[in-house]
Amino acid sequence: MVRNRVWKWVGFGLGGIAVLAVSALAVFYFASQAIIARHYESPASNLRAANDLAAAARGRHFATVFGCADCHRHNLQGGFIPDFGISSRNLTRLAAKFSDRDFDRAVRYGLRPEGTSVSEYMPSDSFQYVADSDMDDIVAYLRSLKPAGEDIAFPTYGFQARIALLKGDAHMDRFWFSWQKPAMDLGPRYARGRQLAMAACGECHMTALTGAPALVPPPRPPDLSLVASYQRADFIRLMRTGKAAGNRELPLMSAAARARFSHFTDPEIGALYDYLTARGRKLTGASR
Ligand code: HEC
Ligand code: HEC
Repeated sequence: MVRNRVWKWVGFGLGGIAVLAVSALAVFYFASQAIIARHYESPASNLRAANDLAAAARGRHFATVFGCADCHRHNLQGGFIPDFGISSRNLTRLAAKFSDRDFDRAVRYGLRPEGTSVSEYMPSDSFQYVADSDMDDIVAYLRSLKPAGEDIAFPTYGFQARIALLKGDAHMDRFWFSWQKPAMDLGPRYARGRQLAMAACGECHMTALTGAPALVPPPRPPDLSLVASYQRADFIRLMRTGKAAGNRELPLMSAAARARFSHFTDPEIGALYDYLTARGRKLTGASR
């Protein structure tokens, strides 16, 4: 008799624990889902890509220097990125589903067509500063590609990824929009260099070019005012070969330069150097 009663209470206890566990899981799921499925106001986009070869050729250039061809692979068919643990998408396949404006919203606003944020590994928070005409060219290039390779769906979030989102160790890309500020404006003479720096360097150095905040794990990109201490020839060498002043190989920057920035044109590197040194001198008060 007594034994039966004990088992009854053990049963109630276990049932209670099960109910608690299920409720905790439900709270965990809904809290993380609220971050993942949060809707953002979709901005109007007027982008309509030109349908000509010259635009597509320019777009191919920008897809290289802005790193689309790095993360989405040289053929833009996407693939698994081991450093991130997720896959980039097949842009040649996406072209059948995405309007020009969908592409614009994904790249410059970090929003999927239904209004949720892309993952933080797609650096739209920095691409928000890609110039209208450069964005036109990029979409013209995407439209010129033949659909090929496997379609890749957008990433889903497993248990650990959801824990990281809830703990604030990981974010959706829209989170970073509130951290990204425009870089110092030095007028029209420096406009192109400033805008290229925000769009191409802002992913790691922040669009204000002030360097990554402490919440980004090392190696930490510095404030780009240090370019003021670079000779022009040394800066060109860093962009073209990845070797920093003093012939140093850098843990991350060197590879980024070789994959992306070595493809900048001479005038683009010149514009970057002019702007970054002018900004650096202004900030450090130097008068070189
Ligand atoms: C640092 C790596 C990286 C770079 C650089 C990058 N992407 Fe992505 N991109 C990703 C990853 C990873 C995804 C998949 C994540 C997601 O969709 O949430 C993605 C997703 C996308 C999507 C799909 C968004 C959606 O609605 O699912 C488009 C479109 C896209 N990228 C275009 C571009 C273009 C164009 C460029 C260059 C201007 C570019 N990407 C540069 C990593 C990158
Ligand atoms: C993918 C991330 C990434 C991008 C994009 C990036 N950088 Fe860097 N950069 C770094 C990191 C990280 C460092 C610190 C050194 C290291 O660990 O590689 C760095 C260091 C530097 C340095 C210091 C070199 C020295 O003398 O020590 C300069 C200058 C620099 N970056 C310029 C640029 C410019 C200009 C751009 C844009 C055209 C750019 N970076 C884009 C990640 C990046």
